[in-house]
Amino acid sequence: MPASEPTPPSVAPIERRVDAVHSVLDRHGLHPDEFVVEATRVADEQWVPENGARIVARAWTDPAYRARLLANGRAAAAELGFELPRHHRHLVFLEDTEQVHNVICCTLCSCTAFTIIGLPPDWYKDFDYRARVVRESRTVLKEMGLDLPPEVEIRVWDTTADTRYVVLPLRPRGTEGWSERQLAAIVTKDSMIGVARIAPPAA
Ligand SMILES: [Fe+2]
Repeated sequence: MPASEPTPPSVAPIERRVDAVHSVLDRHGLHPDEFVVEATRVADEQWVPENGARIVARAWTDPAYRARLLANGRAAAAELGFELPRHHRHLVFLEDTEQVHNVICCTLCSCTAFTIIGLPPDWYKDFDYRARVVRESRTVLKEMGLDLPPEVEIRVWDTTADTRYVVLPLRPRGTEGWSERQLAAIVTKDSMIGVARIAPPAA
């Protein structure tokens, strides 16, 4: 790097950042332990990708629901009993087609529709993924095991605090006649982020 360019600020390891937050809370007499335990329980039990999988499976089997989902994701999620935090003002489902593949990221931090697809994977929070998926999405997807044909357009969506995206993946061939429950079982978190397609069932 030329001497004239500013040196990027270094970021402390996660343990030191957690310690720093803890010490500030302590100084203000706040004790977050109970909150952390409760938040962890909710994340483990309620914020799970099975929620998004149910929505996707409904959209695959019910064209009217699919249309409502694409028009207003928040309202369509509520139809199935899924509430979002108030600050997730918009929930946008991105429809994959044979010609267009969608992938989501948060270039600023790690925003996701976490009540719908679960908490983001560690790699989603990495600086590497956040920077490179925007600049060289086809290469990053290939490195992650998704080698898309060159004719498929890739659209990258940068999540914000009040707009959360979820990919509506392609329904794989060979699942004709499957029940909603069967279909929901094959929908993965990665496919709703857009770093994977759902493989057809083994013959
Ligand atoms: Fe974020």
